[in-house]
Amino acid sequence: MKRIPIFKAPNFLDQQVKVAGWVNNFRTHGKIVFVDLRDRSGLLQITFSKQSSPDVFDLAKKLKPEWVIEVIGKVQKRPKGTENSDLVTGEIELLGERLKILSVAKTLPFSIQSDGYEISEEKRLKYRYLDLRRERLRRNLILRQEAVFEIRNFLKNNGFIEIETPILTKATPEGARDFLVPSRLQPGKFYALPQSPQQYKQLLMVTGIEKYFQIARCFRDEDPRADRQAEFTQIDLEMSFVEMEDVLRVIEKMIQEVVKKIFPQKRIKEFPFPRLNYQEIMEKYNTDKPDLRERQDDKNELSFAFIVNFPMFEWSEKEKRWKTVHHPFTRPQTDDVSLIKEKPQEILAYQYDLVLNGYEIGGGSLRSYKREILEAVFEVLGHKKEEVQKKFGHLLEAFEYGVPPHGGIAIGLDRFLAILLNEPNIREVIPFPKTGDSQDLMMGAPSEVEEEQLKELHIKIEREENEKSDISKNKT
Ligand code: AMO
Repeated sequence: MKRIPIFKAPNFLDQQVKVAGWVNNFRTHGKIVFVDLRDRSGLLQITFSKQSSPDVFDLAKKLKPEWVIEVIGKVQKRPKGTENSDLVTGEIELLGERLKILSVAKTLPFSIQSDGYEISEEKRLKYRYLDLRRERLRRNLILRQEAVFEIRNFLKNNGFIEIETPILTKATPEGARDFLVPSRLQPGKFYALPQSPQQYKQLLMVTGIEKYFQIARCFRDEDPRADRQAEFTQIDLEMSFVEMEDVLRVIEKMIQEVVKKIFPQKRIKEFPFPRLNYQEIMEKYNTDKPDLRERQDDKNELSFAFIVNFPMFEWSEKEKRWKTVHHPFTRPQTDDVSLIKEKPQEILAYQYDLVLNGYEIGGGSLRSYKREILEAVFEVLGHKKEEVQKKFGHLLEAFEYGVPPHGGIAIGLDRFLAILLNEPNIREVIPFPKTGDSQDLMMGAPSEVEEEQLKELHIKIEREENEKSDISKNKT
């Protein structure tokens, strides 16, 4: 007999079916054992009665929560007054006739029946495969895929081509530290994991693709926070022959579609999203990510805004040098090279951020595609000509073969979803996130590696004195 998913059971009234799943809970009432069976589609009440099948009843009495079982039985109407209107299967139950225990389970380290916020992060992440049995997290994973599906659909229908860019690559500046991967075949050299696909997507514009997108994994070696992980996902896109408004309109339409189809209970406060001037916003709210909701306690209100006209550069007092507010590929709002070099503080950029309910959920810009502008920007940043050539020579060279004007944006998918799903931390919408100190406690990563592997990579670990004594202590 073929197994049916639990939610279909009501279609089989008075017929025999086979179901399988986890024992969600379990109680005995005299001569009847009640089991709530859980599979990916829902819950089903199963009764094992001593009267109708004494052997099966005796076996059912031994069941424990989270055991995995298979049951064959007859679907029948629940006795009057015992229906449960919260469940799709609330009108029926299964009278268990045969029971097979597929696997047993130890007592779980925590309850999976609650929403889980009360359990420590370490425990939840160490046992993430159990944490993900929780209804709330399962719902988050499913809605994540539905949102991504809608986004893919929208972008494809609007002529964008999804292209995968490399993970083993060269550093691209987004303002964080790089994760490095040593090369075995090129001793002493390192790949960097991408902080974003920025340079590849610009190079794709040189290919003539014109409209690129990717659901892109990005890596930044920075301290995680509620809205930040070392590894996260962007909805990344780039377009050729566009002005700023063209990019913003694609994004707001895409977001409107996702909200309408996947999160219909949410209301977008203002559409088209307001375009607000950076300077004015800073003066008014003293932040570049203002929360513009009418009622900040209303979970269903979504207040989007594009912040535009950012300054191109900001002075870093700590490093005593100019830095770009976005990244160096952003186009200044002037073609005057000497002005860029002489008065960097006055230059605005074609940069835009997307904010939602007080969070920055996206950022992008039109790009400098003229060599002299890019070089002037690098000069303001204090990069030597040879250094620019070494780090970005490939991009400058590519731009010498016919580069269209282009621009793009990246939306932080995890942040966007955390807000849509009313979650306080992006960890709640990422299947396997890292802890506050960037560890994967479930896998035990990062971890030490074999001496042999290090040798192959020409790497020697130098231990600090206190680490050495810790190690010798551990050995004794
Ligand atoms: P930016 O660095 O502004 O731009 O990143 C775009 C968006 O990505 C999200 N984000 C993060 N989410 C989770 N954890 C992190 N550590 C993290 N860092 C960033 C944010 C942010 O708004 N290449 C450019 C885009 C472009 O110019 O097209 C870029 O990456 O929501």
